[in-house]
Amino acid sequence: MKELMRIEGLKMYFGGLKAIDGFDLSIYEKETLGIIGPNGAGKTTLFNAICGVYTPTAGKVIFEGKEVQGTPAHEMAKKGIARTFQISKPLAGLTIFDNVVAAAGVHEYTGIASYFHKAKTKEVEDKVEQVIRRVGLESVANKKASDVSLGFLRRLEIARALVTEPKLIMLDEPCAGLSNFAINEITALVMQLKSEGQSIVLIEHNLPITMKVCDRITVLSYGKKIAEGTPEEVKNDKQVIEAYLGEEDD
Ligand SMILES: Nc1ncnc2c1ncn2[C@@H]1O[C@H](COP(=O)(O)OP(=O)(O)O)[C@@H](O)[C@H]1O
Ligand SMILES: [Mg+2]
Repeated sequence: MKELMRIEGLKMYFGGLKAIDGFDLSIYEKETLGIIGPNGAGKTTLFNAICGVYTPTAGKVIFEGKEVQGTPAHEMAKKGIARTFQISKPLAGLTIFDNVVAAAGVHEYTGIASYFHKAKTKEVEDKVEQVIRRVGLESVANKKASDVSLGFLRRLEIARALVTEPKLIMLDEPCAGLSNFAINEITALVMQLKSEGQSIVLIEHNLPITMKVCDRITVLSYGKKIAEGTPEEVKNDKQVIEAYLGEEDD
């Protein structure tokens, strides 16, 4: 398997708080890698430090053989790394369709600027329509983002990432806070992307979901990796069981 991304000795400190404290990871093409860990373990911070939301305190992020750590988020997107946010940040006044259009211009412009400058050429519209169908947003495509449920907003997050045609998509807890029905739908969508050959990193707090969709799982606790392996290996790991035991439901 070909290595797509390698993370070496990554550290992300906030003053005295060592949110990520020396983290190594390889991500391979076409795999679905799960990152799990208790609340506050550092999962979202890891994404932010990888994707250019934060500049890491130390360490390397190597993507397709080149060091990219510290590159701003929109430049990372151009390189082919797209991430979704745990808390969706749609352009609330725009329709679902136009929100995806706005994301489509990432290779030329960033954010809202792309929407106004590149606007809706036939080519962009076709691409957006395809992505809308792929993630199952057809029924709400013309609704304003402010008027749809959380489950649809999570799909929108995924659509906005997919429309940039990422080599690697990084999903931050796409199922958090959803009903069981919506969780099953999002899980099915991740499985579909996986079957299409998309390389995926999935942060997920829910163990059964991760076990179901991931080829390999890395477990984070207090900013450090405590286990890594197949779902079966991780499930039976003593340190993993301890990290999850006694944790309050959220
Ligand atoms: N911008 C920030 N400034 C200071 N502390 C932060 C910041 N972001 C996250 N943290 C802290 O880093 C730790 C890890 O948080 P986070 O990455 O959100 O965990 P997870 O996503 O695993 O629940 C927490 O203690 C959190 O309070
Ligand atoms: Mg988080």
